[in-house]
Amino acid sequence: MILLAIESSCDETSAAIMVDGELKSNVISTQLIHSEWGGVVPELASRAHQKSIIPVVQEALQKANINKNDLNAIAFTRGPGLLGALMVGTSFAKSLALSLDIPLIEVNHMQAHVLAHFIEEPRPKFPFLCLTVSGGHTQLVWVEGPLNMQIIGETQDDAVGEAFDKTAKLIGLPYPGGPLIDKLAKEGNPDKYPFPMGEMPGLDFSFSGIKTAILYFLQKEVKLNPNFIEENKADICASVQKTLIEILLRKVKKAMREKKCSSIAIAGGVSANSGLRKRLQELGEENHWEVFIPAFSYCTDNAGMIAMAGHFKCEAGEFCGQDVSPLARYAW
Ligand code: KG4
Ligand code: ZN
Repeated sequence: MILLAIESSCDETSAAIMVDGELKSNVISTQLIHSEWGGVVPELASRAHQKSIIPVVQEALQKANINKNDLNAIAFTRGPGLLGALMVGTSFAKSLALSLDIPLIEVNHMQAHVLAHFIEEPRPKFPFLCLTVSGGHTQLVWVEGPLNMQIIGETQDDAVGEAFDKTAKLIGLPYPGGPLIDKLAKEGNPDKYPFPMGEMPGLDFSFSGIKTAILYFLQKEVKLNPNFIEENKADICASVQKTLIEILLRKVKKAMREKKCSSIAIAGGVSANSGLRKRLQELGEENHWEVFIPAFSYCTDNAGMIAMAGHFKCEAGEFCGQDVSPLARYAW
């Protein structure tokens, strides 16, 4: 089974080839144009996908040494994401599948983040808990099978990736700020500025309170010392990062207890965060959990994870028709 997978939900145009469940290529073209605007501009994202999609697919085929006529199915991200961006990948996948007369597989981007754990060893055993943390989502997912998962907790306002990116913007770092905060945090004191963690019931999250607290804190300090941010950047980053990680892990602990689970995975762009990876490992050791942390290349958006999800759907015979349309919001 030779599968082509396409990802175009946000600011990464990506294509991958998977043969019988084994990933052969995973090409990612990151749109750099957004950094000068301080965030992803939907219209620019659609145009950039339109430009990159054919070269990216060609490169994925070439790297895997596969001819397009040998493809057996095409998987694509149906949502959630930016509608205009999703439209490019969806239309491309539909047209190519039609011209090659092969089936189509629609994939939920958030489920694919979870299934990225099955691309390489060690693969988690079912059931397990997955903390999926990205620029648009923060979810606790209870995973009972590749196509059997449910959200048991999620953010009621901002995603944790947004909290990273908005903090970065406040201290003058370009988009996406998450990786830059991570880098600066390594040199800072995480206990210098204690920020409030807030209190959400159950397994849900909230990041709007800490975002406002950071804004007011910076405004107050800058009034007293206009150079405050420049002089304390690393400590601010370390303190914010520590608080965001603690908010996440507090709910992970609660969910693991409630589910009597001993297997935890993280997924999504923010799972690339070195502080989160380290703290989760430590927590795993303390609690005797098995901890699954994906390779960096499978944390942020990539078509390899779409291929993995597509492979499972293909095995289950879950194909879709040519009348399928993208979904900006895609609950499951
Ligand atoms: O999953 P992803 O690539 O795209 C979405 O589906 O949203 O996640 C992107 C998010 C951005 O908010 C970015 O700042 C964040 O992941 N991110 C990080 C790190 N690397 C990426 N956040 C904190 N630390 C990192 N090292
Ligand atoms: Zn994503």
